[in-house]
Amino acid sequence: MIRKPIILLTGGAGYIGSHTYVALTEAQFQPLILDDFSNSNPVVLDRLERITGQAVPCHRGSVLNTELVAELLKVHAIEAVVHFAGFKAVGESVAQPLKYFDNNLGGMISLLKAMENAACHTLVFSSSATVYGDPATVPITEDFPRSHTNPYGHTKLVCEDMIAAVCQANAAWRAGVLRYFNPVGAHPSGLIGEDPNGPPNNLMPYVSQVAVGKRPFLHVFGNDYPTPDGTGVRDYIHVQDLAQAHVAALQALLLGDNGFTVNIGTGQGYSVLDVVSAFEQASGKPVPYQLAPRRPGDVARCYADPALARHLLSWSANHTLLSMCEDTWRWQSNNPEGYRLLE
Ligand code: UD1
Repeated sequence: MIRKPIILLTGGAGYIGSHTYVALTEAQFQPLILDDFSNSNPVVLDRLERITGQAVPCHRGSVLNTELVAELLKVHAIEAVVHFAGFKAVGESVAQPLKYFDNNLGGMISLLKAMENAACHTLVFSSSATVYGDPATVPITEDFPRSHTNPYGHTKLVCEDMIAAVCQANAAWRAGVLRYFNPVGAHPSGLIGEDPNGPPNNLMPYVSQVAVGKRPFLHVFGNDYPTPDGTGVRDYIHVQDLAQAHVAALQALLLGDNGFTVNIGTGQGYSVLDVVSAFEQASGKPVPYQLAPRRPGDVARCYADPALARHLLSWSANHTLLSMCEDTWRWQSNNPEGYRLLE
């Protein structure tokens, strides 16, 4: 029997990690989750077992524990790591920058040390379009200048630099840096999805909580941007397409690719009001909204040129905005309290 490559998913119980877990299982990898459950719920493990029909290997622990990570890498003969673990709330990062530097930068350093120690040199990193700051033009290509407007974005930028430095120092490293645009949607089973703590910061989970009746209306942050309807335009990408991008990245690296940094988006921009009307169509529910001032730090338009990922990884997104909304709605309406209500 051929041994399946074992892949460590740091933060594998989180929103993107859990969807990637399923995609990797379907692609004949054997993922292993490392998660401290600081921003995820162990119920997700039962859901993953239901979807995959297999036991879900998981270690509860922190990526900051270098010895633990090195031990896992060695004991399980892990071939590659996908590093999802990290904090991601922009506003919180402004209020508590040290929390972000400690966890996101400390976690990256700890992981790189553990991987070096265990001679596991294949890494896929969850970066973000936030590294482009306020882009001068759209669509954005990977050679655009990088900048940051908040500590969260700063940590993504510095993590990219740390990875580049270790790759420079030791030719054994192979790293794939994936710059996600706006991940949304859920697994079509409705069993796993995004489960924010408290009021959502991001648009799609907020819209879905309005549609399900948990919140009375959406605040639309600004309608005077230089966009077709005046509201902010983003590149929403289905989390299922994003999960497939991780599969493609790992396959390329394990086949000997030296490494890459690629945008993971659809290349298509949609406004806040486009999302509202697509969600109303998908859910059959009204999504009332009120206009509110611009949110500080927001940019008018942000969408990818995804050609490099198509060229290097033979990957491209294929879910529509409507299917992103339909899958979000299935998850939200089946789990109005997220993972918090045990069955
Ligand atoms: C945000 C972060 C980004 C991070 C990403 C992670 C900011 C400024 N940016 O991206 O760094 O990588 O999340 O997922 O926080 N909107 C509303 N009402 C709402 C929420 C959002 O009108 O209640 C609008 C925003 O103004 C924006 C669009 O919806 O035009 C998308 O917002 P959001 O989902 O928060 O994503 P980003 O701001 O693109």
